[in-house]
Amino acid sequence: MRFNIVILPGDGVGPEVAAEGVKVLEAVGARFGHFFELEYCPIGGVAIDQFGVALPKKTLRKCEKSDAVLMGAVGGPKWDDPTAKVRPEDGLLGLRKGLKLFANLRPVKVLPMLIDSTTLKPAIIRGVDLMIVRELTGGIYFGRPKKQWQTAAGRKAVDSMLYSEREIERILRVGFELARSRRKKLVSVDKANVLESSRLWRQLAIELSKGYPDVELQHMLIDACAMRLIQRPADFDVIVTGNMFGDILTDEASMLAGSMGMLPSASLAGVPRAGERTFGMYEPIHGSAPRRAGQNIANPIAQIMSVAMMLRYSLGLVKGANAVEKAVSHVLEEGYRTYDIMEEGKTQVGTREMGDRVADRVS
Ligand code: IPM
Ligand code: MN
Repeated sequence: MRFNIVILPGDGVGPEVAAEGVKVLEAVGARFGHFFELEYCPIGGVAIDQFGVALPKKTLRKCEKSDAVLMGAVGGPKWDDPTAKVRPEDGLLGLRKGLKLFANLRPVKVLPMLIDSTTLKPAIIRGVDLMIVRELTGGIYFGRPKKQWQTAAGRKAVDSMLYSEREIERILRVGFELARSRRKKLVSVDKANVLESSRLWRQLAIELSKGYPDVELQHMLIDACAMRLIQRPADFDVIVTGNMFGDILTDEASMLAGSMGMLPSASLAGVPRAGERTFGMYEPIHGSAPRRAGQNIANPIAQIMSVAMMLRYSLGLVKGANAVEKAVSHVLEEGYRTYDIMEEGKTQVGTREMGDRVADRVS
C-alpha cells in the first residue's frame, strides 16, 4: 500500500528523533511491502524564523491532505520571551485545532527490562499498563476570554476553562470505547468539587455510562488522581480527562515508564475502533529538550513508538505496529540504552545508533 505522511521535525531534538522515526517507518515499508511518501514541513520555532508564523498555512494544508502526520517537538529558549507575539507552541496548538485532533492518547506501559531504571520502587510499578485519554482541542487551552490587560490596580490576566456538552461527550466516548477494548475500567478525572466545567463533565460521564454497562466507571478528583498515580499505578486501566489535567498527569505518568523519552502519543480526529482508520498526528510526549539538541543523545524511542501508534490507528497496519513495538523491546532486552534510561551493566548508545538497532530488528 501507499501512504502520504507529513513529517514535522520541529525544534531542538525534534529533527533528531524524527529522523529515527522515519528510519523505522522505512524499515516497516521494506519489510511489509508498503510505500510511504514523505513530505517535510516547517512548524514551531523554525517556521517562525523562516516565515514569521508558527504554523504556515501550507503546512496545515499538507497535513490536511495526508494520511497521517508525524511530529518531533517544538519550542526552545530562543522563542521563549513571555512578551513575544508568536510562539512555537502556537504552531502545535493551531495544528491540533486545525486538524480537529480532539482525542490525545498517551499510553504508559512499564517494560519489564526497565523496571529498575525508574525513581519508583519496582513493586509499585510492576505491571503498569494504562492509557491516558486527554481532551486536546478545548478547555483552558482554548477558552475565551484569554488575555492580559492593564487596570488602575495593576495588570490582570484571564484564561477560561470552557467546555461544551458536545466536546465533553465525544472525549468521554473515546475513554469508554478504549476501556471496552481493554480491561473495562475507566477513571474520569475532574475537579467537580470546585469547577463548574467539571460538574458538567461528571454529569455527562454518568449519563454516558448507561450505554456502557460493561465498563466500570469511577470518578476521581485531579489531586487525588495525581497521588494515586504514584501510589498504586497498576490499578489504572483507562483515564479520561480534560486538556490541562491531562497535560499534567501525562508528564507525571511518564515517570512510571522510566523516562519521558519512552512515551509516544496519538492525537486523533475520531474515536479509535479496531479495524477502522482514524486520521491523526503522532508525536513523543517529551518536548524539544534544547539542551540535549545536536548531540546525538536524545532517546528516539518515544518517537519510534509514535510511529507504531500511527501504523496502528491511522494506517491500519497492525502487523507493522506490532513489529515496531517488538523491535524496541528486543533492542532493550539486548541491553542497549540511551543516557536517560542508562543503568550499570548496560550499553549506552546515541540517538542514531538506537534508531539503527530498532530498524534492524523490525521483522
Ligand atoms: C504536550 C506539551 C504541549 C501541551 C505544549 C508544548 C504546548 O506540553 O503536548 O503535553 O501543553 O499540550
Ligand atoms: Mn505536556
